[in-house]
Amino acid sequence: KMDNFIMDLMKKMTVEEKIGQLNLVTGGEAITGSSVSTGVESKIKEGNIGGIFSMSSPAKIRVAQELAVKESRLGIPIIFGMDVIHGYKTMFPIPLGLAATWDMALIRESARIAAVEATADGLNWTFSPMVDVSRDPRWGRISEGSGEDTYLSSRIAIEMVKGYQGDDLRANNTLMACVKHFALYGAAEAGRDYHTTDMSLHRMYNEYLPPYKAAIDAGAGTVMTSFNDINGLPATANRWLMTDVLRKQWGFKGMVVTDYTAINELIDHGLGDLQAVSALSLKAGVHMDMVGEGFLTTLKKSLEEGKVTQEEIDQACRLILEAKYKLGLFEDPFRYCDDSRAKSNILTRDHLKKAREAAAKSFVLLKNEDNLLPLKKQGTVAVIGPLANSGENMPGTWSVSADLANTQSLVEGMTEALGNKVKIVTHLGSNLVEDAAYQERATMFGRTIPRDERPEQEIIDEALRVAEDADIIVAALGEGSEMSGESSSRTDLNIPAVQQRLLKALLKSGKPVVLVLFTGRPLTLTWEDEHVPAILNVWFGGTETGKAVADVLFGDINPSGKLPATFPQNVGQIPLYYSAKNTGRPLAEGKWFEKFRSNYLDVTNEPLYPFGYGLSYTSFDYSDILLDKTSFSPGETIQADITITNTGNYDGAEIVQLYVRDLVGSVTRPVKELKGFQKIFLKKGERKTISFKLTEKDLKYYNQSLEYVAESGDFKLFIGPNSTDTKEIDFKLL
Ligand code: IFM
Repeated sequence: KMDNFIMDLMKKMTVEEKIGQLNLVTGGEAITGSSVSTGVESKIKEGNIGGIFSMSSPAKIRVAQELAVKESRLGIPIIFGMDVIHGYKTMFPIPLGLAATWDMALIRESARIAAVEATADGLNWTFSPMVDVSRDPRWGRISEGSGEDTYLSSRIAIEMVKGYQGDDLRANNTLMACVKHFALYGAAEAGRDYHTTDMSLHRMYNEYLPPYKAAIDAGAGTVMTSFNDINGLPATANRWLMTDVLRKQWGFKGMVVTDYTAINELIDHGLGDLQAVSALSLKAGVHMDMVGEGFLTTLKKSLEEGKVTQEEIDQACRLILEAKYKLGLFEDPFRYCDDSRAKSNILTRDHLKKAREAAAKSFVLLKNEDNLLPLKKQGTVAVIGPLANSGENMPGTWSVSADLANTQSLVEGMTEALGNKVKIVTHLGSNLVEDAAYQERATMFGRTIPRDERPEQEIIDEALRVAEDADIIVAALGEGSEMSGESSSRTDLNIPAVQQRLLKALLKSGKPVVLVLFTGRPLTLTWEDEHVPAILNVWFGGTETGKAVADVLFGDINPSGKLPATFPQNVGQIPLYYSAKNTGRPLAEGKWFEKFRSNYLDVTNEPLYPFGYGLSYTSFDYSDILLDKTSFSPGETIQADITITNTGNYDGAEIVQLYVRDLVGSVTRPVKELKGFQKIFLKKGERKTISFKLTEKDLKYYNQSLEYVAESGDFKLFIGPNSTDTKEIDFKLL
């Protein structure tokens, strides 16, 4: 039915109208490049716009849609997109934080809620999930993905797609997903945003591509190209990637949109003028041009000059029309413009409750010396630091739809959650960073943090006076939310020095100090780990951050988050990730330095906090692993059982992780690879035996000829609370 409908429609379309469909413009609210779209109204009427993004509210969208369906010649409806990344108005933790929950149902629900809210505000397409694996925390956009691991990122990608798209894309509360950024954007050289990626096919297929494929297999409707160069050809012009891999190998049937002005940027990449790069992108397998209007302004000429074919333009147009058809827009272009929904569907009590739960579950307890946490709900708490009173920083990066001005700060949220049981006093304590120009760069998009230009010591002294009568100090330090995210690469991953000096002064006061750490990426916390008794990493937790921090600090919720990315000891160790190769000269376990081994003179090979790490207020004991057999054949299953006991004093959740190592292969294999996990809840004293089942498929990887195979031989299986502290057992694949 769809095919016939679109075929009939396309028969009526002129070349100009077809090219018009390939044009995606911005409604003007979010600008992430130097260009903005102009003349939107007249272009709609002329049939020169296929999609609009960053325009919201049924009222505004209705106006634009009416222009399209009533005043353009063929009345083709517009698709309306937005970066709904980790919530719409009810903001959930940043994606890296959500990943730290390892809670698949919760992650799916967060996407579902985002879809309900965004569609209630007129939208039908989201530029999410972002599934770029990254092992370089210098790259600011590591905050927008699920971290360093292929398996975890793939699992999350599936949940996000299903959460957004639901069971029925035509329903008025589902959004079409857009998997991005295809591909390998997270491997930008030196962690500098938009930089070159150069990667072996072996690594690509085994480590970086699977999450995109997982999202596509889960049914994601659209794909967004990435900005970066890949082995000499930028993704947006890369036919091998967009056509051979995406369509021929993976069978993707949907439409591909560029990132913001990515076609125009091919000129700076050095691939030719706008006409040439537009033709190159179309031929590569790109269908919709975001903001740059290279397609709109050059494709007709390229067609006349034989540089692109009518079939290529038709194919792009057809796929865009199909996306609209799948969303039900031809049936009812105003399906998502129900003015009554916003009131009852956005920022509801249930949504906020879920966001609070998600935030609390995303927090990772990095250190808790002498069980300083949880705190008692009594006395006075001094919340000191630049992140204490900045509501607009709580939602984190890429929260374009959030109501930043009305988001509670940490102190406001804590105060509401704790009522009058605890007295809260507060102070800025220090500037976010010492240098005013840096602070300006780091607080863009309305993420203000007040600056105090008095001498630093004067500010610290004042903060200490505020904290004088407090029983405990909560130091709210770390990054401002725009210190991570797009175009926010950093080379120094310490907590800014000016904040560290404040922290030292707070510690010197002799009062117990809890560091509540705000960050969008792994930071280097070696000094803090040594000197601060308790560290709770809260990422950027979304709308309900403050309340969730109170829930966790005061023990209503026992923290259970686990790191989705390694925290290195220092920047020089980057890239540092648990699933590395062994090398031919590995360092013996537990050793630091040995001459002529793969190690450093000045620091151990270990991370500060490994992938999968996170503490609880309680403790869990892991039994030995029991296998139902020591070897298994393809077609069979092997089962690993382990008993976990809550040996501490609190009920709590634990994320039990299973890793494997292929000991001998036709190519080198990682020392550990995550292959499964279970999040369990154990009451104090409770014990549970859990089982993991593995099949041959779990042991498959892409060999040197890029065939997806499992090789028979010896394996190790590990189970533990993180990627380092594991129990292990051997097994064979026959
Ligand atoms: O979706 C984003 C992308 O992640 C970065 N560039 C802009 C796009 C649209 O806002």
